[in-house]
Amino acid sequence: MLVTAAFCHKHAAMGIPCISCLNPLTMKWNPTQYDKFNAAREAPLYDLLALIDKRPGLRVIDLGCGPGNITVKLAAALPDSDVLGIDSSAEMLATAAELAGPRLKFEVGRIEDFAAGGGPDYDLIFSNAALQWVPEHAELLPRLLARLAPGGQLAVQLPADDYNPARLVFAEVAGWRYDLASLDISAYAEILDAHGVTDLTLFEKVYPHVLAAANAVLEWGKRTALLPYL
Ligand SMILES: C[S@@+](CC[C@H](N)C(=O)[O-])C[C@H]1O[C@@H](n2cnc3c(N)ncnc32)[C@H](O)[C@@H]1O
Repeated sequence: MLVTAAFCHKHAAMGIPCISCLNPLTMKWNPTQYDKFNAAREAPLYDLLALIDKRPGLRVIDLGCGPGNITVKLAAALPDSDVLGIDSSAEMLATAAELAGPRLKFEVGRIEDFAAGGGPDYDLIFSNAALQWVPEHAELLPRLLARLAPGGQLAVQLPADDYNPARLVFAEVAGWRYDLASLDISAYAEILDAHGVTDLTLFEKVYPHVLAAANAVLEWGKRTALLPYL
């Protein structure tokens, strides 16, 4: 039987974990494992870059930058800009730190704290494959929008694959299911429209990953989807 793991009060009595008590901030991210499928991971970056208005002098933040290899490519595509990558994982940031440069910096930081603080001081808020770990997107997205300067851009990719076969197997073996925070795509359209976003592009896309062998599915999962179960 599959049990969704979404509400702590419901699951505490049943003795199973839920998204609230399984804090993504304490998950053990492993940059070596994560880097195993670099090329496949980068495809969404180029889709986002095609949508970004690449004006000079952008103040850019990459939320949940991980080991930084996507951030460094983002910075290279925005040559006159200042780019800051933040991530809650010290392990991931240790790898990212090696990629820093005069206009590319990395700091430990939580997406929730960034969303909650400061003024409208960024021209581009970018995030690839990270916001799904942060709950309550109906509140999070308006807070992120509030951190954008006039004319600012929000460029986000997040997975919506709670029901892909590998995730279903992970959940079945565990006996419970970890749900990502990702919402249905139409919910994002409604939230962003309701908060004054005028130039809106939303799309769903399957990024096919052809893996060498069945065991590679496990290796892929150990990078991220399996972390809540480990
Ligand atoms: C799947 S990785 C993506 C890394 C990178 N953006 C990329 O595309 O390669 C997710 C990253 O989000 C970070 N993360 C998860 N929750 C976070 C939070 N609440 N605040 C900051 N970083 C977070 C993790 O530490 C991890 O490095």
